[in-house]
Amino acid sequence: LAGGHQIKSKDFVIAVSGTPGSGKSSFAKALNEAIPSSKVIELNDLVDEFKLFSSVDKMGSKVVKLKELEKKTKEKIKEQEKGTTLILVGHLTPEISIHPDITVVTRVTLHELIKRLEIRKYQKEKIKENIVSESVDYCGTKAKEQCKETYEVETDQDKKELIDYISGKVSGKDVTAPEIKEISNFDELLELVTEGNKYSL
Ligand SMILES: Nc1ncnc2c1ncn2[C@@H]1O[C@H](COP(=O)(O)OP(=O)(O)OP(=O)(O)O)[C@@H](O)[C@H]1O
Ligand SMILES: [Mg+2]
Repeated sequence: LAGGHQIKSKDFVIAVSGTPGSGKSSFAKALNEAIPSSKVIELNDLVDEFKLFSSVDKMGSKVVKLKELEKKTKEKIKEQEKGTTLILVGHLTPEISIHPDITVVTRVTLHELIKRLEIRKYQKEKIKENIVSESVDYCGTKAKEQCKETYEVETDQDKKELIDYISGKVSGKDVTAPEIKEISNFDELLELVTEGNKYSL
């Protein structure tokens, strides 16, 4: 890397998806810190800033206008400066037709997810919805349909390895991809169902 210039041949788009509360924003922040020429855009911020929702449902969640979110996100990708890395964060990234180079899906144990969502004082119905979403790997399944280079991460070690890989890759290094991990929360769901729980699971 002569003259201290990094070889950045491409403007990468990295999508970060995952169940609400699974740790997308935290992961994106760490990735952003590891890639000097990167920028984070939270899809939720676009939804708020440009009012890309039609209503708010009974659980307090915004009903997002996906076509409009897609249009706005594509505009942001178009505006992306050459040689930079755009980190798009949101559980809806696999629901809109964009073409990320890499998708990261943050996974979390159901017990940890419940703990985090209870701290946020989410309604029971909404917590239940997210437990189900996490246990069937809704975001991961969708992401894999959209992007052939999709990684799921759960532990700090998974996250570190993936951050090393992505930051290496975007700076033009010849890096080896981490192995694809199969993460399943199904046993934990079964346990919750058989033990009984307050979410009518
Ligand atoms: N690796 C981690 N270890 C411990 N706590 C974590 C970890 N990652 C995230 N958290 C905590 O979990 C909570 C949710 O994380 P975060 O806000 O990153 O999730 P999110 O997927 O972005 O949620 P949302 O979809 O609502 O934006 C935060 O309180 C965060 O501090
Ligand atoms: Mg977030």
